[in-house]
Amino acid sequence: MENVFMMDHPLIQHKISMLRMKETGTNEFRRLVEEIAVLMGYEALRDLPLEEVEVETPIEACSTPMISGKKLAVVPVLRAGLGMVNGITTLVPSAKVGHIGLYRDPKTHKPHEYYCKLPDPIDQRTIVVLDPMLATGGSAVAAVDFIKQHGGKRIKCMFIIAAPEGLELLHRTHPDVQIYVGHLDRELNEHAYICPGLGDAGDRIFGTK
Ligand code: PRP
Ligand code: URA
Repeated sequence: MENVFMMDHPLIQHKISMLRMKETGTNEFRRLVEEIAVLMGYEALRDLPLEEVEVETPIEACSTPMISGKKLAVVPVLRAGLGMVNGITTLVPSAKVGHIGLYRDPKTHKPHEYYCKLPDPIDQRTIVVLDPMLATGGSAVAAVDFIKQHGGKRIKCMFIIAAPEGLELLHRTHPDVQIYVGHLDRELNEHAYICPGLGDAGDRIFGTK
């Protein structure tokens, strides 16, 4: 699928397997989510535009490439996406951070928005949406809808684990969006949880139940 990128790096796969283990506690879970975000970010940001700038080394003046254009915007989907933010700002410390608050209704599994604050202006920035889980795809589609309504154009989405159903919906609804997936899992269960998945990402990151 064009614009869909599956991660195959062994470090990413190993760390995702550790995330899945039910005995992995909050501390380690948080650390792993951040590390995976660094590794996935390294892949997802390989097409950032460069420009030549003049610098002086201790030896001589030279022209050398640096990232060009407006600063990156990172947009975590609350809550669980927050766990990935530090991973991306480790790579791009100057990134601006927006937030989109969405929760899934436990019965209908439909997303409800409760917060949205994006860096302004957003139209000239590369925007990286962060959420560890792409399940039905409802939350991701809603997040991209909001960003586009605010003028966002160049959008990338990063998910640590995706279900085929959610990936298909997001790609079909927003084919222009680049989607980065750490691991594609088998299916959703009757509660719209990803199988085998890792359980509830927000609860595992924040130690809630
Ligand atoms: C989880 C997850 C995604 C969403 C995925 O969040 O972090 O945002 O579910 O499901 P979907 O693809 O079916 O929409 P949740 O709604 O549990 O909120 P939380 O992060 O606050 O726990
Ligand atoms: N949200 C999660 O945190 N986990 C799932 O498996 C599905 C949605």
